[in-house]
Amino acid sequence: MTASAATKHEVVATLASVKKAEAGTLLPTYDRYQVLLRRGRGVYVYDAEGRRYLDFLSGIGVNALGYGHPAIVRAIEEQVARGLLHTSNLFFHDYQAELARKLEAISGLDRAFFTNSGSEAVEGALKLARAHARLKAGTRKLLRPGFQKKTHVVALENSFHGRTFAALSTTWTKKYRAPFAPLMQGVRFVKFNDVADLERKLDASVCALIVEPVQGEGGIHNVSREFLTRARALTHKHGALLIADEIQSGLGRTGKWFAYQHAGIRPDIVTIAKPLGGGLPLGAFLTTDAVAKAIKPGLHGTTFGGGPLTCAVALAVLSTIESEGLLRHVANIGAYLRARLEELQARHALVREIRGLGLMIGVELADAEAAKFVAREAMAHGLIVNRTHEVVIRLLPPFIIERKHVDELVRTLDQLLRRYAAETNSERRRLAGNSSDLAKVPAGRRRSQSSAATNVTNARTGALRSKSI
Ligand SMILES: Cc1ncc(COP(=O)(O)O)c(C=O)c1O
Repeated sequence: MTASAATKHEVVATLASVKKAEAGTLLPTYDRYQVLLRRGRGVYVYDAEGRRYLDFLSGIGVNALGYGHPAIVRAIEEQVARGLLHTSNLFFHDYQAELARKLEAISGLDRAFFTNSGSEAVEGALKLARAHARLKAGTRKLLRPGFQKKTHVVALENSFHGRTFAALSTTWTKKYRAPFAPLMQGVRFVKFNDVADLERKLDASVCALIVEPVQGEGGIHNVSREFLTRARALTHKHGALLIADEIQSGLGRTGKWFAYQHAGIRPDIVTIAKPLGGGLPLGAFLTTDAVAKAIKPGLHGTTFGGGPLTCAVALAVLSTIESEGLLRHVANIGAYLRARLEELQARHALVREIRGLGLMIGVELADAEAAKFVAREAMAHGLIVNRTHEVVIRLLPPFIIERKHVDELVRTLDQLLRRYAAETNSERRRLAGNSSDLAKVPAGRRRSQSSAATNVTNARTGALRSKSI
């Protein structure tokens, strides 16, 4: 295709034509927002009709520096100009060691392995934990009859660690796991923040405990300091590794480089991804020198992970977070966001709880219908938020948002919550006015009847259903 043909194609594509083309050619995995995005600038994205959206999701926590940040554009342009986008890991290039050194400095760990995604980082971390347990056991013990292998992994209820097999095995949500059984054997789930349950399930047969210090897809739940501290002590006691999955919470999102740093602990392995590559696919797992002894050449590898383009961009991302003082900014603007959301909670009975840290915030609403309504209608108001775990509005904005953007978000949420309450109240009154009708409706179905008003709006705006990860 010539350059002009490519441009022409882009100009004529519409949401309808792209939807039609995708429906006939892609695996039907995604239930996308009904928007065809075309460009981005700062904290805004623009659709094919030029409509602007304030982005409080940032590509599910990826676009930490927003859209079109000059540092990212420059890093990409410079590397493209060198003509070296990929080398494979058979060769050295200029950036892996420098990026690893930087990640080590901010994490307190010693070594890095680069991947293409979060799930791959989790896979690598779990493989490393198994390899480490074998190394510690020694060959003689492994061969002894009756020797209890140290292969179990402990994860938390409500966790999300990814979609590949081992990552999926440590992910709690049954509907993600069940269709693909049997998964990796030996995973035990501990009740969320339940230290006693952890003490019961973490024993000498466990090679690793994997924890998201702030659970993301599970609805933004902070793991308590007490749980993390106890987890650190128990993993030490039983010779298991503590893996902090910081794929969503890491690299500044909570106002510190890593969420585990709020609890003052150091894990043995840390997984990262999302914002690392500035929008390009790059993840990593980091570990200590001691644990890294379990890895020998050839034991693990990747074709693409840690290529020169992604690593050059990651260096630009990390140095921009530093040079623009974004950790402090995230902590400050996160506190402002929280305060404004708490005001909203005081005004709306529909808002049940505000959770999270920094710019990783969950607003739990009273019911799933309300959350669906807010996520869908926000889009019609030029605001992108995400619904996760049925009832939670998840906010993962770019780190560069300002107070005026928070105010815009709160104004829109305020309007939408008011409208939802008004529409459901008038529907309830209508049904109550005809109390004989209401009496005929089984209790469990009254709520869905009362949200009939929502369905009218659904038809108007199209099915802008919100997604999890
Ligand atoms: C905590 C956590 N772990 C793992 C993953 C999987 O990452 P990816 O989708 O890049 O494979 C995610 C993705 O959202 C995540 O939030």
